[in-house]
Amino acid sequence: MKKTVLFILMTLGAYARVISGQVPLVQTDLSASKGGDLLVSSQMIQNILHYQTWGELFVYLQVHWFRLLFAVILIGVIVVFAIHYLIIGAKVFNENCPCVLVYPLFQRVVHWIAALSFVLIIPTGLIMEFGKYLGGGEFVRISRHIHAIGTVIFIIVFIPLFYIWVRAMLLSFRDDTRWIYMLGGYLNKKHVKVPAGKFTFGQKMWFWMAILGGFVMIVTGAAMYFQNFDIALLSKLHLDQVDLLRISAITHNFVGMAILALFITHLYMSLFAIKGSLQSMITGFKSVHELKYLHHSYYRKLLTKGFISEDYEEDK
Ligand code: HEM
Repeated sequence: MKKTVLFILMTLGAYARVISGQVPLVQTDLSASKGGDLLVSSQMIQNILHYQTWGELFVYLQVHWFRLLFAVILIGVIVVFAIHYLIIGAKVFNENCPCVLVYPLFQRVVHWIAALSFVLIIPTGLIMEFGKYLGGGEFVRISRHIHAIGTVIFIIVFIPLFYIWVRAMLLSFRDDTRWIYMLGGYLNKKHVKVPAGKFTFGQKMWFWMAILGGFVMIVTGAAMYFQNFDIALLSKLHLDQVDLLRISAITHNFVGMAILALFITHLYMSLFAIKGSLQSMITGFKSVHELKYLHHSYYRKLLTKGFISEDYEEDK
């Protein structure tokens, strides 16, 4: 009780001094010395006053949900794929049969630069999220900078990554709905002909999450990294800078969770679920056996156009 009374009195006292202009609660000249840094301006008071808008939601999610959800996704997705690998196992295709160039050199280079960026971004993002349990301090600060470096690499590769695959990643109602219906044939130990073009619906989901989700992560990440920006649009949206930071943090966390889940899926598919997949992103070639079963519509097209000389028979 004593503490509460003391706190109220001190707050009232501080306000009286601010209102009387004796001692500014926030030294307004700081903004001059920091070149208009809104975060140290009197706007801070305003932000505290309407904390109930985004502030309360952000703190509630930050304290109770973000870490828990990231942990559940990280462990949950890995456990699900471990069970899949134990029960169904990997899809193995004949690699001693004719092969087709699926990933030309430029696509592979772009891909591995994107891969490097995520190898820097994802673990450091998780380190910042769980920094409290990892001792915080220098380790988390360095991770934050590596996270930013990874983001710069991703920004550089973003347009080429979009450009090289956007056409092949467009949705096809017929193939993609049938792919969803049979879950890409991944619950079947036997090889089944999966209706898919150059990319399956699963691969398309990852591409669009990496591109659209990646874009949102760049924008919200930049907002949190640079913190100090004055955008006229904000006031039109009745938002201020601290609100934008709160909204960016909430969005960055939830989109980050979706990207983490699909990134782990991408790693599982390309490193464990399909034997020879990694090889294809190194050499660029895929066996006609794999194309016939995992990308059947694309295989039929290549056969019709003569890129594949004869129809591959599995039992021959
Ligand atoms: C260490 C991380 C990564 C590894 C080991 C990896 C591996 C692979 C492999 C082996 C393939 C060929 C899949 C196939 O056709 O069978 C592939 C394809 C692809 N990768 Fe990655 N990749 C990584 C990171 C990334 C990142 C960060 C992105 C995007 C930002 C990305 C986007 C794609 C896309 C769009 C494809 C084509 C469709 C697909 O298979 O999903 N990859 N990757």
